[in-house]
Amino acid sequence: MRSKSCLVCLVSLAIATLFGNGTATATESVKPSHYASTFNRTLFPSTFIFGVGSSAYQAEGARNVDGRGPCIWDTFTEQHPEKIWDHSTGDVGADFYHGYKSDIKLVTEIGIDSFRFSISWSRIFPKGKGTVNHLGVKFYNNLINEIISNGLIPFVTLFHWDFPQALEDEYGGFRSHKVVEDFGRYADFCFETFGDRVKHWVTLNEPLSYSLFGYSGGTFAPGRCSKYAGNCSAGDSATEPYIVGHNLLLAHQSAATLYKTKYQAHQKGQIGITLPTHYFLPKSQSVADEGAASRALDFFFGWYVFLS
Ligand SMILES: *[C@@H]1O[C@H](CO)[C@@H](O)[C@H](O)[C@H]1NC(C)=O
Ligand SMILES: *[C@@H]1O[C@H](CO)[C@@H](O)[C@H](O)[C@H]1NC(C)=O
Repeated sequence: MRSKSCLVCLVSLAIATLFGNGTATATESVKPSHYASTFNRTLFPSTFIFGVGSSAYQAEGARNVDGRGPCIWDTFTEQHPEKIWDHSTGDVGADFYHGYKSDIKLVTEIGIDSFRFSISWSRIFPKGKGTVNHLGVKFYNNLINEIISNGLIPFVTLFHWDFPQALEDEYGGFRSHKVVEDFGRYADFCFETFGDRVKHWVTLNEPLSYSLFGYSGGTFAPGRCSKYAGNCSAGDSATEPYIVGHNLLLAHQSAATLYKTKYQAHQKGQIGITLPTHYFLPKSQSVADEGAASRALDFFFGWYVFLS
């Protein structure tokens, strides 16, 4: 029964693919049009902030420009092109580093309130700690000023997965408790340097994605997993995602507490975290199904939201 329905799945997938190819030319001639939806902005409070965002590794490019240090995504895309769908890298990305002014202009044309970006840790501290790269600081100062002068609210993420390679090499990155102190120092520097203008901070972007894809399946940097879980040269899918998740939460706590105790009173900003989740409903009201749904939600969301 089970294998039969799987076969049906495969067959319909194949048919869908054929149809997809067959209709490709027809869809190309479809013109975009304006449409009205009854689910729209007017249903939200006027204080609700609508925004779009980006991440440093995907957007900035400028890999070796102006003193940026290497991050684990540089290494991962270089050493494992087979793990990237189109074998691309972020070496150039969207060239946001050079084109941010015109990109911000485009954002204003959408008619939204805020723009979120992430800071590349290794553009500020090329070795993850120690010496500051002032050209990196200058870039983010210019970017923040550009966002504000275009009437947008800057939302700033401190860590969107592009961990400094130097610290990965030194102590294994988020597998080590040492990361908590280094993340705290980096966050402290960012609050002190940019917090006069940045009032909305995000400590971590999707810590679940970082721990799960980086250490369970090994499909994201740093690409670690057990042999039974994926194609990685090292790792332990049964333990590392939890160790990394734990240290991510401690790093978040360290930065958030620092902001609240040292900066919030005079900078008057807010600090939070970005968490992704699916939602799970039990298939029936049985105890087993309800337990399964609640466990699944905890593995996605509860793990991070209750502790952060
Ligand atoms: C937005 O939603 C409201 C309330 O549902 C509706 O009356 C209005 O026509 C919608 N506007 C647009 C532009 O879709
Ligand atoms: C597994 O990884 C190795 C080393 O990175 C690579 O050469 C190989 O192509 C990968 N195998 C598969 C099936 O992707």
